[in-house]
Formats: sequence, C-alpha cells, structure tokens
Amino acid sequence: MSVTTLNEFIIERQADFPYAKGELTRLLSHIGVAAKVVNREVNKAGLVDILGEAGSDNVQGEQQKKLDIYADEKFIASLKASGECCGIASEENEDIVIFEEEIARNGKYIVTMDPLDGSSNIDVNVSIGTIFSIFRRLSPVGHKAKIEDFTQEGTKQVAAGYIIYGSSTMMVMTTGRGVNGFTLDPSIGEFCLSHPNIQTPQSGNLYSINEGNYIKFPDGVKQYLKYCQENDKETGRPYTSRYIGSLVADFHRNLLKGGIFIYPKSAGYPSGKLRLLYECNPIAMIVEQAGGKATDGRGNRILDIKPTSLHQRVPFFVGSRNMVCKAEEFMKKYGDKEPKIKDIN
Ligand code: AHG
Ligand code: MN
Ligand code: MN
Repeated sequence: MSVTTLNEFIIERQADFPYAKGELTRLLSHIGVAAKVVNREVNKAGLVDILGEAGSDNVQGEQQKKLDIYADEKFIASLKASGECCGIASEENEDIVIFEEEIARNGKYIVTMDPLDGSSNIDVNVSIGTIFSIFRRLSPVGHKAKIEDFTQEGTKQVAAGYIIYGSSTMMVMTTGRGVNGFTLDPSIGEFCLSHPNIQTPQSGNLYSINEGNYIKFPDGVKQYLKYCQENDKETGRPYTSRYIGSLVADFHRNLLKGGIFIYPKSAGYPSGKLRLLYECNPIAMIVEQAGGKATDGRGNRILDIKPTSLHQRVPFFVGSRNMVCKAEEFMKKYGDKEPKIKDIN
C-alpha cells in the first residue's frame, strides 16, 4: 500500500502553487509540524495540569484557556522559524505580531490564524481545531510587515486550511486547486493523504446553529429554521440538527456529509460572532474550493469582503450550495434585522 504524506504531496504539487519556489511548501510543512506539537498537547490535555482557564481574557474579552495560549505560541514559533513568514495575526493577540529577525523580514507570506478553535470544548474531550490563512505580503520584502498585509480580501488567500483534533487528527487544506484531507498516523507521526479532492454535496440534510439563541435571531433565520424542521419528502425534510460548538468540527462534518452552518447576527452579537480573518475567510476558501458556498446571509460572498479591522466579525452562512442559497432566500424575504435586546426580555 502506498501512502502520500503531507510533505510529499505539497512537494509534488509545488508547481501548481502561485509563485512556486518552494517557499509556500516550506511554510505549509512548518504548519504541519506545529500542528503535530499542538496535537500532542491536546491529546494529553486530560492528563496534565494544562486544563482550565489561564486567567486572562483575549482581545474579544473572552476567557482564554491555557491550551489557546500554548497553541498560539507553538504556531508563532514554527512560522517564525520557517523563514517564509514575516508576521502573523492571531485571534489571541490584539495586534499583529511582526517578526523582526532578518530571515523573517525576507519572508514573502503572512499568516492569520485561530490557534485553537472551540476551546470551550477542551475540558469535555470534544473536538477542537486550528484554522489558518496564508497571504502574500503587500509590503516590500526585507522590511517589516504592515497592517495592510493582513487586511486583504479573502480572495487573495494563497492557501487556507484547518486542523481538527478529533477522534483522529486531520489537516484539511487548499492552495486554490481543490481541497485535500490528511489524517495523522500517530504510529509514524505523519499526516497521510486520506481524503483526496474533497467535494461537498450540493444539498444535504444537516443544519448547524446555536438554537439557544433563537429568540435573538432575525426573522429570516427563524423562518429558515422552521423550513428546516418542516415535513417534506421531496426535499428530505425535516433536516437533522447537529451543533458541537466548535466551528472546525461542525464545518468538517457538514463538508463531508452535506449541510449548512449558520452563525447569524443576533440581539447578542449584532455583527455575528465569528471573525472574518481567522475563521470565516479560511473556511470560505475551503468550502468554495470544495464546490460549496459562504456568504454573510445578505448576498455578500465572504471572500469579497474587504476587512476594515483585524478582529472584525461577520455573520456566517456556509456549506452546501443549495442550502446556503435557500437560507439567503429566507433572509431576503423575511428580513435580516436582529431584534433589540430590550424587545425580547
Ligand atoms: P473560539 O474557541 O476560537 O473562541 O471559537 C468558538 C467559536 C466557534 O468555534 C463556534 O462555532 C462558536 O464559537 C460557538 O459559539 P456559541 O457557543 O455562541 O454557539
Ligand atoms: Mn474560533
Ligand atoms: Mn480560538
């Protein structure tokens, strides 16, 4: 039986990469190494005293777990060491992290990442992930990275991916030529190509949304949920509701099986909760490369949105093309205005 490792795969496909010179290959393999180190810690999270809150809040005012910080540090160290990356923007850091060393200043790429996604699930042994995007820098090589390097539209991504630390650990990534999935074989410590050329079904029967927020949703979302729950043999409704609370895990399941994930704006989160740079853009590139769709629920393609700030949030409708189109129809027909908190209490 022949196995293709992640490194072999990216070297073989190097010619497909834009500006191929081995730099992106090196960058991706450094991400693979950091993923393995983080995976090791995630796997033993129940054993060692790394569980629990680290005591500090991240820039969005949410409690950070120790593993968030650990993952952030490991990915930053690995990207810095690659010599191909001149800076990163991470959900866990208020400002961009600029690499000052000469070798890093010569790097042609920047990375944005959510080092640990779904961290509220760590303590209960449920799947979590890492999400990343890679862009060519706009600032001149040899100088320090600038904020403009990080606020490019999602269409400018040269690669994107996620690692899911699940019942097995996988990396799913795209360099703009389809989506491929690699499963970590712990016995040899390598990511092996297990899901070549992933295509997502055009329709599915899974819907994923935090329904606990139902009364805070815009009418379009409420009506679409009603549609998902109605009986209709022809379209296979009612659909099945599945929600883990880790974007990576919820998205990964829907990508393979067919479904829609929605994190809409709501009375609690008037711009939605998920971050454009670290969560929505990379997932949107992957879903489009797999034949699916990602919008903000108001007809705007996620990848076309010009970021105005690092930690910008955006409503997120992602998954099987026909399902996202249908949800968009409902948003248009019934409205996307979220209710006011004072009107629902
Ligand atoms: P993070 O752990 O990086 O802050 O991300 C959590 C995100 C995402 O993974 C998930 O889809 C969403 O938050 C869940 O939010 P709710 O608990 O509000 O449903
Ligand atoms: Mn996240
Ligand atoms: Mn996170």
